[in-house]
Order: sequence, then C-alpha cells, then structure tokens
Amino acid sequence: MREVYLDNSATTPVLPEVAAVMHKIHTDTYGNPSSLHRMGVEAEKIKRRARRTLADACSVKESEIYFTSGGTEANNLAVMGVARRLRRRGLHLVTTQVEHPSVLYACRLLEQEGFALTYLPVDREGIVSPAAVADAMRADTLLVSVMHVNNEVGAIQPLAEIGALIKKNNSETLFHVDAVQSFGKLPVQPLLWQADLVTFSAHKLHGPKGVGALYKRQAVHMEPFFHGGGQEDGLRPGTENMAGIGGFAEAARLATAKLSAHALALSKLKKNFSAGILAAIPDICWNSSEEGAPHILNISVAGTRGEVLVHALAEEGVYISTGAACHSRRPELSHVLLAMGRKEKDVEAALRFSFSPLNTEEALVYALEKLQAAVLSIRRVTRR
Ligand SMILES: Cc1ncc(COP(=O)(O)O)c(C=O)c1O
Repeated sequence: MREVYLDNSATTPVLPEVAAVMHKIHTDTYGNPSSLHRMGVEAEKIKRRARRTLADACSVKESEIYFTSGGTEANNLAVMGVARRLRRRGLHLVTTQVEHPSVLYACRLLEQEGFALTYLPVDREGIVSPAAVADAMRADTLLVSVMHVNNEVGAIQPLAEIGALIKKNNSETLFHVDAVQSFGKLPVQPLLWQADLVTFSAHKLHGPKGVGALYKRQAVHMEPFFHGGGQEDGLRPGTENMAGIGGFAEAARLATAKLSAHALALSKLKKNFSAGILAAIPDICWNSSEEGAPHILNISVAGTRGEVLVHALAEEGVYISTGAACHSRRPELSHVLLAMGRKEKDVEAALRFSFSPLNTEEALVYALEKLQAAVLSIRRVTRR
C-alpha cells in the first residue's frame, strides 16, 4: 500500500544524514564528555560544536544553549524553574489559552503552588493581542510565556510586538517562547523578540526524539529539576544524550541551511492542497489562516468526526491527526479550537495536515483523492 505521511507536526522521520551522525557517535566517538581522556575530549568537542550550531541558528551565545530531553522538559523548566526561583519577587505569570500542554500543565501546577496565572484569550485566527498581554501584566509578573507557532493550527504570534511591550512595561518580567513548531521552518529570533528563554525540540525537524534545548539568556536564574553532576552548568545535570545532541545539531544545520527554500516549498504545498480541498469538498471550516505557518493546515469537515476520518485515511496509508499528537488519543476537545471560538461540532470534526519538505505535490494529490472519497462515503452514510 502507498503511504503518505502528513503528520509532521507530531513528529518527523530522522534524515539519513542525521542517522549517520548518530550512528558514529553511538559506535565510534562514544566517550563521556566529562571524561578526561581523549575519548572524553572528543565527545566534549561534539557537544560544543552542537551547541554552536544551535546558537548560530538563532544568533545567540553558545553558552546560552542548554540541552534537555525535549520540548516538554524545556517548557516545564522555563516556566516552573523561573517561577520557583523568583517566588520572593512575585507570584504572577501570564500565558495564553492555546499553549502546548507542556506549558499549560506546568502553569496549572504552579497555581497549586500558590502562583496566580492569567490565561489570555485569542481571536478567531488563534492570535493573542499584544495589548492584552501588556494589560494583563502586574507589578509582580515574573514571566510571560507565548508560543511562536501553534502546533494545532499554525497561528504565528506577533512575538516582537509582545516582547517590546513586556519589556516596556517591566524590564524585569521574563519572556519565554515555545519555538518547537517553528524552529527549522521560520526564523527563530530571541534577540528580536527580546525573549529570555526559548524552547526547541529535535524531532519536529527530522532529528531524533527525546532531545531538545532551552535558550536561557545569561542573566536569567532558575531552579533546576535535577540534581547531580554539574553538566549543562548544573541546570540540567546527567550524562548527556550525546547521539541525540549530535543528531539534533545535524538536523538543525540541514534545516537552517535551507530555511527559506523549505519555507517556500511548504507554503506552495499548503496553498495547492488548500485549493484542492476547496474545489473538491464542500462545507469546510478553515481553522488555519493563509498567514499562518507554512507547514500546518487545520480544517473541519462538516458532517464528519475527525477521529473517524483519521482512521479512514490511515486505512488508505494517509497519516494525519485530529490535532496535537501529544493528546490526540484522549477524547478531549481541542482547547485551541475552543479558544478560537469554534463550535463544538467543528472542533469534533477537526483534522490537521502537517507537511515536511519531504512531501511532494504528487503525494498530496493522492492524499486529497483519499480524503475526498472518505468524506463522500461518511456523508453518504450519515445522510441515510
Ligand atoms: C508547540 C509544542 N511545544 C512542545 C512540544 C513538546 O515537545 P517534545 O515532544 O519534544 O517533548 C510539542 C510537541 O508536540 C509542541 O508541538
């Protein structure tokens, strides 16, 4: 059976070049970077090069990149690590209603610890208003956390405006950005955004799972989760996932070298696929806007259930999702689409197609054919 993978926001396949780097680290340069001998020195060099690659990709200092076990850990660490460390200075944090669960659940936990949280609403396109961020800030606001690209609908937040307003209001309030869905597809610019903390994950850009990074501006202090050896400046101790780190850097190098070409190719895929849907399937509610990220398209097909369509397409070898992979196995309604004011029946009908530069126009024509057939057959049955 032919297979078309359109769930690249959930995860992506590891590129052969990345797998080769990882294999070499596993079997050849496998030293512990903390060891004093030649193998350790070699491993330390690999780690330093990886840190530099990530730092260069977003124009920050090498010493400001900390490797983690992924985006979830980096988001948890940014939000909880700052709040717990700065507790005596304030008890308030601001975020949005459409963040990834790894930010939202960290915030919920902080509420149980006595912090006050403001969850900002978004408009119908999923965008938070910079003025609303500024209005929500209090004298004791420790941190504002706003994602770059939303993982379910691809909405891009106006981070430069938000960052400028935060710093104008209170230069001590820290700004955290979850850039997991944008890194490798759009420019990630901590300095332009005036961000103090930025989260990255490798497996969304054809790198391995289980490795990510946190950019932390030098002057920012936070409480670590783990305690042990002094790795990663004590912020994230534990023997490093060296193959993961090397693979992450290779994936980031490859993605950033072709950033604009890839963004253009992805936009074209999204545009043509959207035009195909518009022509072939009536009664679509568009949950992603044209101005959104080039690799995410979220739609609701009236008269269907997302889950049913996901399974019907999977039987034809077309892999998509109903929303965020991290919680799509749970029968919860998308908090993102609800925050965007979609009706419950449209939320239940949501489908997310997410593209990678490895997808071809021809594969999308095939996926569209299968989608059209599945929708027709579901609508025929439900009309009876
Ligand atoms: C926006 C966003 N943030 C964070 C994460 C979590 O990253 P990881 O899977 O590396 O833990 C994801 C994963 O889906 C995501 O989409």
